[in-house]
Amino acid sequence: MTAQKSPVSPVTWIEDRVLLIEQNRLPKEYATVEITNSQDMAEAIKTMIVRGAPAIGVAAAYGMYLGAREIETGDRTEFLAKLEQVGELLRSTRPTAVNLFWAISRMLKTANQTTGSVEQVQKTLLEMAKTIQAEDVQTCKDIGDKGLEVLPATPEKLNLLTHCNAGALATAGYGTALGVFRSAWREGRLGRVFADETRPRLQGAKLTTWECVQEGIPVTLIADNMAAHCMKLGMIHAVVVGADRIAANGDAANKIGTYSLAIVAKAHNVPFFVAAPLSTIDFELSDGSQIPIEERDSVEMYQVGTTRICPEGVEFYNPAFDVTPAALISGIITEYGTVAPEDLKQFQAKQLV
Ligand code: MRU
Repeated sequence: MTAQKSPVSPVTWIEDRVLLIEQNRLPKEYATVEITNSQDMAEAIKTMIVRGAPAIGVAAAYGMYLGAREIETGDRTEFLAKLEQVGELLRSTRPTAVNLFWAISRMLKTANQTTGSVEQVQKTLLEMAKTIQAEDVQTCKDIGDKGLEVLPATPEKLNLLTHCNAGALATAGYGTALGVFRSAWREGRLGRVFADETRPRLQGAKLTTWECVQEGIPVTLIADNMAAHCMKLGMIHAVVVGADRIAANGDAANKIGTYSLAIVAKAHNVPFFVAAPLSTIDFELSDGSQIPIEERDSVEMYQVGTTRICPEGVEFYNPAFDVTPAALISGIITEYGTVAPEDLKQFQAKQLV
C-alpha cells in the first residue's frame, strides 16, 4: 500500500455559499470563486469554472438550493413553480453530461415530496445537495475499488492511459477513471498514468497531470495523436476513461477524442474501460445517437493561450464530446461492479432518481 494524500474537492459548501476551484486557471494558479446565487452558478458551469459530469451535477444541486433561497414567497405552489425555473436556468448551461439533469431532477423531486413550509423545503434542499455530494465521493471510491478487479493482471506494475480529466476535479472528489488509478496506486499496482493532453481545452495536460503531481503519482503527458504509437510499443496495459452520458445499450459519450482512442485500443488489443457512476447512465436513451453533443466556441480551436494558430478564413467545427460505440468498450465500471455494456440494464433499478 502507498500512503495517499486526499484528493481535492472542486465544490465546497461553506456556511452560506459555495466555493468552486477555478479550473480554467489550473495549473498556473490555484484559485477559488465564491458562488452565492443560482445565476452565478449557471455561469460557472457554462464557462467551465466547474466541469466534469459528476462535478457539474453537484454544483447544479447547490445551484438549485441557492435558487430556492432566492425565492421570496411563503406560498408553496408559487415556490415550486419558481424552482422549476431555476432548474431550467441550470439545465440550459451544458447539454451533454446527464448528471446535471439527474441532479436537478433529484432536487425538484425532493422539493415536491417535502411537506411543510417553504422554509422547511429550502432546508431540505440544502441537505439533499450535501447528500448528492457525499454520495458521489463514496461512489467514486467504490468505482475505484471495483475497477481494480478488472484491470489486467501483469507481472509488472500497470501503465494506464486516460483521456480528458475524470479525476477529483471532475467529481465531488476522488474521480472515476482517476479513482481507479488512485485505488491501483494505493494498492501498489500502478506504475504510471499516461495522460492524453485532450485538445482543444487540454483538460488532460492541465488537470489530470496536476492531480497526479499533487499526489506523487507518476504521470507522462502525451499528445492525443501518440496513443497508437505507445500501444504498439506495448507501453499501455489498459485505457480507463470517464463518461458524460451512457445510453441504455452502453454507447458512451465522453470528451472528444475518446472514440478514436477506443478504436486504437481495439486495434492493439488493449482493454478499454469506461468508469462512471449510475448517475451518468441515461436509461431513457436506447443508443448513443440520441445523446446531445455540445458544440463550443471556435476560439477554443484557433487560439492556444493568446496565440492564433491558423490563418483567418478557416472554418471550424468544435464538438466537445463524441460517442464511443458499446462494441469498443471492454467493460463499464460502476459503483456496483463492472459489466459488459449490453448488461448495463441490470443496474436500472438501483439508480437513485
Ligand atoms: O468538458 P468537460 O471538461 O466537462 O468534459 C469532461 C469529461 O469529458 C469527463 O471525462 C467526464 O465528464 C467524466 S468526469 C468523471
